[in-house]
Parts: sequence; C-alpha cells; structure tokens
Amino acid sequence: KAVVMSGIRSTGFLHLGNYFGAIRNYVRMQEEYECYFMVADLHTLTTHPDTKELKSNVHRVLAENIACGLDPEKVALYCQSHVYETAELYLILNMLAYKGELEKTTTFKDKARLHPDNINAGLLTYPVLMAADILLHRASLVPVGKDQEQHLEMTRNFGNRFNHRYGEVFPEAFAFNFGEELVKVPSLDGAGKMSKSENQYATLYLSDEDDLIRKKVMKAKTDAGPTEPNTPMPDYIENIFLLMKLVSAPDVVEKFTSDYNNAAIRYGDMKKQLAEDMVNFIRPIREKTESIRNDEQYLRRIMEMGAEKARKSAAATMEKVREAIGLKYY
Ligand code: TYM
Repeated sequence: KAVVMSGIRSTGFLHLGNYFGAIRNYVRMQEEYECYFMVADLHTLTTHPDTKELKSNVHRVLAENIACGLDPEKVALYCQSHVYETAELYLILNMLAYKGELEKTTTFKDKARLHPDNINAGLLTYPVLMAADILLHRASLVPVGKDQEQHLEMTRNFGNRFNHRYGEVFPEAFAFNFGEELVKVPSLDGAGKMSKSENQYATLYLSDEDDLIRKKVMKAKTDAGPTEPNTPMPDYIENIFLLMKLVSAPDVVEKFTSDYNNAAIRYGDMKKQLAEDMVNFIRPIREKTESIRNDEQYLRRIMEMGAEKARKSAAATMEKVREAIGLKYY
C-alpha cells in the first residue's frame, strides 16, 4: 500500500481552499492507502508565537477534518507535536538543507514580508520541518493544494541528498491530486487564492453561517452586465465559475456557461444560485463541526490513537535513518 501524508496548520478557521485543495482528497484516499494526516501545530509557531488560541484551534482543525468525512479509525489523525521523532529527523535534515535555497523559497519570502519583526530560523527552515513530516512515514503521495508544490520539490531534494550520502531510505514524495492539476481555490475578490489571513470577506470558511455565506458571495466582484458573445472571461468571472464548478450541479454550471457565451448572463442570478449551493455545501460541515469540537474527551482519544499509529511508523523510519547515518555505536 502506498503511504499518504499531509498536514494543515492550526492558524485559524479552515476555508474552502483547505477543503478542495486538501481535505477532500484525504477523504477520497482514506480507504485505499495507508494515511497519515496531522495538525501542524509546530509549524504554526513560526508565525503565531502567541498560543492563547492554540488549543481551541487544534481542536477545531481536528473536528473540521472529521466533519468533512475523515475517519480517525481508518487513518492516523494526529498532532505534529505529539510525534517527537519529527524533531529528530528535522534536525538531521537541517544539515542537508542549504541557506541559499531556503532563502529563495516563495513562502519564506512572503511570510518574511508579512512579519518583518519576526523572521526567525524556524520560518527559514519551515520546508525542512515539512519534509521531516513527510519523510518520517516514507510517504510517496502528498495531497495538497497548488501553493505547496515548491515545498514538495524541496522535500524530494532533501530526501535524495540523504539517500545519496547515506544510502537509500526515502522514496520520492509528490504532490497528489488524482492525476489532475493541483487545486487553487480563488478568493472572492478576484485577487489571488483564498487564504486564512488575507481579506476575511473574500474567504469562505467552513464555519460561516448561512447569511454570512450569502453576503460574501453576493459581494464577489462581477461585471455590471453581459459582455459581447464569446469574449474571453476576465479572471474574476472565471473565479466565480470555478467556485460554481466546485459546489453546484453540472447542469447549473452548463446553463450559466452558455448564458455567458450568448451574452445573456445575469450575474445577480448566478451569484444567488452560487450562494444557495454554497450554503447547502457548507452547512452540514459547520453543524457537524459544532457537535464535535467541544467534545474534549473524544478529541483526546482521537489524538492519542493517531499519535500511537504515527509514532510506530516514525520509529521504524528513524531506526533506518540512524543506521544509515552510522549513529549506532554498539
Ligand atoms: P496550510 O495550513 O496553509 O493549508 C492546508 C492545506 O490547504 C491547501 N490550501 C489550498 N488549496 C487550494 N486552494 C487554496 N486557496 C488553498 N489554501 C490552502 C494547502 O495547499 C494545504 O494542502 N505547509 C502546509 C502544512 C504542512 C504540510 C506538512 C502539508 C505541514 N507539514 C506535510 C503536507 C505535508 C501548510 O501551510 O498548509
């Protein structure tokens, strides 16, 4: 069985991008593969040193994963900080990661710009910790969104360097979306991708109430009326279609597409339809999350069970790593 690994930071509420970029595929993969999914709580500390909300955010991310259909009996669902072997592998991989390549990482440059007063070494070596998460289980498939592609390339580089220097331990890991292009869910304001920290009104959270979802969708940028028949779509209109393809029925998408091509589209109607389909998509996830996220005993059981499975796999890898390096003196 191929090994699957992925993670989500506990920096706040999960959104539609996290769902369609990552969690949807976790759920699709859980039956067939050996899966390790975790809450990247240590990664969170690179940008969120204040831990007042950490516990409730970790609980929420776990609950949201389960509410989306992840079955903690079928996969290892755990917290990064509970698997201590991660820290050991991270330390070792740091000796195989070069300062220059770390400084060139897009996410590092973005985050350094966003937090100029806290450009810490953890932020610089963020991709090394992520590589440790993946290599720890010798995973080969990593379901993630488009924004994580560069990190996967770095993971392969670190793993290959280890293999060349010390002997074959790690397989190559690839970002995975069932052979399709990796997903990038756009934000509602037509600028960039949906994210946790950017414009809150342009992001649809899995926790948003019905009316808030409607309000956000209705505010999304569109044109005043139809353009000439068969003109190319501007990005922000394409984004609305993209979101519609994710949550609406195929015949609905088809209708609005042909309206667009015939210059007969009414964007108000399109957004109303999208808003209702979005409400129907998000509501059950939100309600299920609410019923789980305060059940501390249940979540504790999940975390303990997940950590036990993950540490077993981690321990086996670390044996091989120590042996390959020569960290065995008797
Ligand atoms: P994070 O917490 O930023 O995001 C979690 C997952 O959601 C995906 N995602 C998106 N996909 C499509 N469109 C969007 N707008 C969008 N926004 C977010 C991300 O691609 C990701 O799959 N570094 C990782 C966490 C991590 C990790 C790992 C992932 C730590 N260790 C090991 C995989 C394997 C991150 O910051 O994800």
